[in-house]
Amino acid sequence: MLNLILFGPPGSGKGTQSSRVACRYNLVHLSSGELFREEVRKGTKLGYQLASYMLKGLLVPDNMVLKKIYKAAIHHEDTTGIVFDGFPRTVNQAVLLDRFLNKKNIPVSIVFFMMVDEKELISRMMGRAEDSGRLDDNEEVILRRMDVYEKQTRPLRDYYQKQNKLSCISGMAPVKVVAERISSVIDNYLMKKEIIKLVAE
Ligand code: AP5
Repeated sequence: MLNLILFGPPGSGKGTQSSRVACRYNLVHLSSGELFREEVRKGTKLGYQLASYMLKGLLVPDNMVLKKIYKAAIHHEDTTGIVFDGFPRTVNQAVLLDRFLNKKNIPVSIVFFMMVDEKELISRMMGRAEDSGRLDDNEEVILRRMDVYEKQTRPLRDYYQKQNKLSCISGMAPVKVVAERISSVIDNYLMKKEIIKLVAE
């Protein structure tokens, strides 16, 4: 199984690139933000609870996140792999995801860290705000999301670096170019895996 994680600041292109990668390598795209927005749209009790955090730009508590993600991951157990987009977002979520996947012997393969300048991030999200309908795309909440990212999500970089799984990708280029950068890392990984398999046979 090819399990990928894309993480980075809000607006860094996680969603855009995750859907391209999923399509190119025939993987399931699992976006925590999308799962939550869908629940909010349905107007469920859980949706109201999620919205109360998302509208403030705060992270949803881990227990609510994990329940949703595990359920979705188990639903796709027979897939060739999953692209996790926006999850994990805290070191605690990463530790628990590792535990969950390692138990099933399908560990995380590569973690992509999307790097984009702050000015560009704000401009992208403000641009998207014009037609996205996303209530968290306004200046005040965007700044909060960026602050929350710095404090709670950025530490994931060290966590995955220690596991030798981190691949830093500059997201400061057109979508197609960034997609090629990501694909070349994945192709390299798959090629190495294939060679190891051949040698072992
Ligand atoms: P989430 O939906 O994950 O939002 P986010 O992290 O703030 O990220 P965005 O969706 O804004 O940006 P992105 O990096 O996906 O970039 P995109 O491709 O869209 O989470 C929303 C909320 O849900 C959180 O605030 C939190 O409350 C909650 N949540 C979610 N997961 C959670 C978790 N695990 N734990 C706790 N809470 C959680 O691109 C942005 C824009 O830029 C688009 O308009 C796009 O077209 C454009 N663009 C993309 N790439 C390029 C490029 N290369 N050049 C020019 N423009 C580009």
